[in-house]
Amino acid sequence: VVDIRKLYANTGMFTYDPGFTSTASCESGLTYIDGDAGVLLHRGYPIDQLAEQSSFMEVAYLLLNHELPSKAELEKFTYTISRHTMLHEQLATFYRGFRRDAHPMAIMCGVVGALSAFYHDSTDISDPHQRMVASHRLIAKMPTIAAMAYKYSIGQPFLYPDNSLSYTGNFLRMTFGVPAEAYEVDPVIESAMDKIFILHADHEQNASTSTVRLAGSSGANPFACIAAGIACLWGPAHGGANEAALNMLREIGRPERIPEYIARAKDKNDPFRLMGFGHRVYKNFDPRAKVLSKAATEVLDKLGISDPVLDTARELEQIALKDDYFAEKKLYPNVDFYSGVILSAIGFPTTMFTVLFALARTVGWVAQWNEMISDPDQKIGRPRQLYTGPTQRDYVAVDKR
Ligand code: ACO
Repeated sequence: VVDIRKLYANTGMFTYDPGFTSTASCESGLTYIDGDAGVLLHRGYPIDQLAEQSSFMEVAYLLLNHELPSKAELEKFTYTISRHTMLHEQLATFYRGFRRDAHPMAIMCGVVGALSAFYHDSTDISDPHQRMVASHRLIAKMPTIAAMAYKYSIGQPFLYPDNSLSYTGNFLRMTFGVPAEAYEVDPVIESAMDKIFILHADHEQNASTSTVRLAGSSGANPFACIAAGIACLWGPAHGGANEAALNMLREIGRPERIPEYIARAKDKNDPFRLMGFGHRVYKNFDPRAKVLSKAATEVLDKLGISDPVLDTARELEQIALKDDYFAEKKLYPNVDFYSGVILSAIGFPTTMFTVLFALARTVGWVAQWNEMISDPDQKIGRPRQLYTGPTQRDYVAVDKR
């Protein structure tokens, strides 16, 4: 047994914070969260105002460039992004190496990481211009990469970007359009999708953003760093939660079965958790969940869809909010609780949900990465550990063991 006090006697001040629940890893001017009050601000602007009144391109500009753009700045930024939407033609060949039933997140990890093999003129991180070009490329190419992952999985030909459309409209066309057929972007869907992108754009030092920063702190190129973020986001406790939440709601199926699932979530011998509930930082309503709760009704109403899953979600929310267990542990619906219902109504299969999250979060990842790289005092991220293995001992030859 190791005597921890002896081992760490000479290390000076040493904090042990598993899961980094109370350790700030950096300074950042991008996003402020007050988890107790349920407040989320991007560079000072409340998330509900941004979601209701701005566009994803405006929020991307804000996160990257500190201030909201003027009309001319927004036009220039949108134009720049639209110039980078194409993927190197050889990358299409890359897709064909994957199995058809590959999870699109597996494809995303590979394709985004491979961008560094194609865009050598934006991998020198010491050059601010190259950093900005890489950022624009990543934001611009993610919809193309995501749509191609989807098209590949359903066996349809890829669609090239149509840069006359909005960022979100172009993505919807590349995903749901068919070659040689006109595709009309539905403004209701476009607006709901844009809102979902805004709500997922950045969220402080969550696991995937911390991963991007940690990877970037070693000087790795931005494409490799974002691929690392995508890998981290894939997990069911993070970006995979909206897929898991919708699967759970479908499994519950009808409001009468809710008490059974509530009981399971409370049972300490059952690993089951209510997906889409609880958050490391929010100990109150996730403000993004509020926006999406409203949007879910709007989208389903406008599309004329009556989905029992939405009824189950609303009922589950009400029952959980009145339950002592959830109140005591401050477990409220998070952003993932309603997003799946909307995405499903729009027509996305559940496997695409995390892909859409990655697409939107790319904006936050690149903004955070730029913020870190521009900091002259930036250090390589290198957490310590509490060693719990054996104390020093002598090697024993294999025939003596
Ligand atoms: N259902 C039931 N009980 C829960 C839930 C839940 N969804 N979430 C937390 N709890 C309980 C835990 O069992 C634990 O109970 P205990 O104190 O008796 O041991 C207590 O609440 C605290 O839980 P932790 O896991 O320690 O809280 P943490 O802050 O580390 O976890 C997390 C946050 C991972 C999001 C968690 O709430 C969870 O697993 N939720 C479900 C998955 C989910 O929705 N993830 C999406 C997060 S948002 C995002 O990534 C965009």
